[in-house]
Amino acid sequence: MKLTIKILFATLLTPAFVFAQQSAGKGQSTEKKQLKPISNDLFGVFFEDLSYSADGGLYAELIQNRSFEYSPGDNKKWQPLSFWEYTTAGFGYGTISVESAQPITSTNPHYLVLNIDDPGKEGIGITNAGFDGICLHAGENYNFSVYIKQISSAPIPVKVELRGAKGVSYGQFSFKTQGSGWKKYDGTIKATQDADSAKLTLLALVKCKIAIDEVSLFPEHTFKNEKNGMRADLAQAVADLKPKFMRFPGGCLVHGDGLDNIYRWKNTIGPVEFRQQQRNIWNYHQSFGLGFFEYFRFCEDIGAKPVPVVAAAVSCQNSGGTRGTGQKGLPMTEMKSYIQDILDLIEYANGPITSKWGAKRAAAGHPKPFHLQYIGIGNEDKQTDDFRNRFKMICNEVRAKHPEITIIGTVGPFPSGEDFDLGWAFADKLSVPVVDEHFYQKPAWFLDNNARYDGYRRTKSKVYIGEYASWGNSLFNALAEAAFMTGLERNGDIVAMASYAPMLANLSHTSWNPNLIYFNNKIVVPTANYYVQQLFSVNQGDLYVPGVIRFKQDDAVKDSTLAASCVKDSKTGNIILKIVNAGAKEANAAIDLTGINIPEQQATLNLLKGKPSDKNTINDPKAVQTISQEITTTNLSSYLAPPYSLSVIRLKTN
Ligand code: AHR
Repeated sequence: MKLTIKILFATLLTPAFVFAQQSAGKGQSTEKKQLKPISNDLFGVFFEDLSYSADGGLYAELIQNRSFEYSPGDNKKWQPLSFWEYTTAGFGYGTISVESAQPITSTNPHYLVLNIDDPGKEGIGITNAGFDGICLHAGENYNFSVYIKQISSAPIPVKVELRGAKGVSYGQFSFKTQGSGWKKYDGTIKATQDADSAKLTLLALVKCKIAIDEVSLFPEHTFKNEKNGMRADLAQAVADLKPKFMRFPGGCLVHGDGLDNIYRWKNTIGPVEFRQQQRNIWNYHQSFGLGFFEYFRFCEDIGAKPVPVVAAAVSCQNSGGTRGTGQKGLPMTEMKSYIQDILDLIEYANGPITSKWGAKRAAAGHPKPFHLQYIGIGNEDKQTDDFRNRFKMICNEVRAKHPEITIIGTVGPFPSGEDFDLGWAFADKLSVPVVDEHFYQKPAWFLDNNARYDGYRRTKSKVYIGEYASWGNSLFNALAEAAFMTGLERNGDIVAMASYAPMLANLSHTSWNPNLIYFNNKIVVPTANYYVQQLFSVNQGDLYVPGVIRFKQDDAVKDSTLAASCVKDSKTGNIILKIVNAGAKEANAAIDLTGINIPEQQATLNLLKGKPSDKNTINDPKAVQTISQEITTTNLSSYLAPPYSLSVIRLKTN
């Protein structure tokens, strides 16, 4: 038997391949191997507005507390002027106050009033440093806007400037107010320099009285250049995962800290200055500039199915920091209107433009439907009668009015235990189509639970693993997750969907660890876990091919550090092998492609490998990343998986 190794772009990283004569004749197909279907929606993402994922994160707004709505309710140290400085550099004087007597709208009640007695040499105004400094790129345009009410009678000259340390100017824009009443003014500033800690200053230049609200600065270049859009680099990192779906807007954020804190999607649509803002359960503020319209549009922009989650009309059981007894149910008298809100959400996403809520979507600039297919009801809720009664009411009504929508139920925060068992029993009783399991565990748990779904009954609800992560961002953590994910592919007939959690975290405001992608105002740091998610997502097949990969080690059966899967992508005909070696020794995997006609041609090897403790950090953001190589294959029969590695080999078939 002639053995050949052909690696087109061989590098030191290249693991050993052994190619042997293929035993099956041409024309035999993978179908002989009893292929199992894999859910089309298996690998997606979960976005929660946690750790400044929305404001100060994915949402591209550069001004913090733009509408003066921060309050001690968000965070004990905050008030409407937080993150604003009163700017009187040119020896002027006057007064500054926050008022609420005549707002733009009652849903955005606070605004700032400057009463300038003497503007001094430079004018008097306010300065905002954004979220830990404003990041500027030289030559790029930044769109500024503000609402102003000219209270004194004469027009007021106003200067808006981007500034660096010691007041150095990075660009400016000036205008004059006209007439009384709230009016929006806007303009564009071209940044003259790169900066990561710029500030925006707005100055009124004459003696006057002026009211100011909704001060906004957006990079002109947002993701896909959408208005009120997403930060381009961060959104691109999410898009590069090629997620099949995106669950949003949380998590615990959805069911909220007490009934008044439940996330209400209707407060998050329409013109941004009219949106009713509220406290974020993670102890900050939600401007709702990133609201349901923007979530749906972002899903469309990245080719992900939208999976909105609504509260099951109960608040989080940990409300008020009670750790387990704070769940409250909405009064039964409010259930009709609460359920109507959920039906309206479906109409907002999918209804014709002639419908009430479809018309609102069209008015926001999207006449076409968003093709909503899934809706999550509840998040990790304690399985109580309060929960069950309300979930059932919502579920029955959504089913009756929208049989085309797939409901996702919830079975508590852990992979087993009381809420899990009760949740599954309840889902069984109601025949909920999909249930959402969550688990945050040690890497060993993920390695040991590769077979978790092998024994699940095929006749019950399908599973959505809505939140999972091993406790850490090292390569070893990521490999443990990869090993577990091979089991998800093998059980892709009942595991309908899975999403790592949480997805985003601002490095200066991280309230939960680990996360998939870290960032600050300037850079984006995808983790080792990110590369695992990406390798599985972009290499997801629609059919599982059993019996292809077997580890040769004597103790391989017991060795949970080794795992593998083989899938077929029917669209391209490609066969994709995923081989995980989370152990310290090279592992020899026998590959049996009998019946699969692989021509001698190019294939792609994607390899993630390193030391188990390797981690991407802000100082070393690329310590762990996928290396891709084109290789030539002839009758692949075995593969030597390097220690601590994930190898994804994409083979073309005849
Ligand atoms: O993902 C972070 C949190 O973990 C989510 O808000 C909650 O659903 C889970 O407990």
